[in-house]
Amino acid sequence: MHQGNAAILYVLFFLREADEDCEIAGVKVDKGSSILFLPKSVHRSADYYPNPDVFDPHRFDNNESNTLQDDYWFGFGIGPRACPAVRWAFVAIKIFIANVLIKYDVLPGEDAPGMDEVNARFRGTKVTTDKPMPIRFRKRA
Ligand code: HEM
Repeated sequence: MHQGNAAILYVLFFLREADEDCEIAGVKVDKGSSILFLPKSVHRSADYYPNPDVFDPHRFDNNESNTLQDDYWFGFGIGPRACPAVRWAFVAIKIFIANVLIKYDVLPGEDAPGMDEVNARFRGTKVTTDKPMPIRFRKRA
């Protein structure tokens, strides 16, 4: 879920207003200034994640947080103004996926290449592959 959120769902920026004069990473910030924070600058940084541009569904295995607000992952924002619906959203996403899988078999499309024949990469805010990866849904009996 963390990887999917970092890859697909994340909000492009968070907006904050400085309530006092301060300095951030050597930059002087005046009280009242608007500050745009780009989560991508951390989510896709090699300083925090090895191979940050590779979609790796197992990246967070055994390392999922309970707070859903980590030092280096904040798909739902951070601090007191973070998304209050984060747990609701995680449950809703899981229920949606479970419902699809209960009702449908998800199969490779007719001409789909094998997983070892494609490279998956982040492009912009989406995970893409260098070859089309058609899938098909077959309603379960
Ligand atoms: C996958 C679904 C969702 C994602 C990825 C998401 C993400 C976010 C993010 C990134 C913020 C900004 C946090 C910040 O500035 O630090 C936010 C704020 C907020 N979200 Fe969500 N959200 C989701 C679903 C929802 C839902 C379903 C609700 C309501 C039912 C909701 C209600 C809110 C509210 C009220 C805020 C503003 C909180 C504040 O300013 O104090 N979100 N959300």
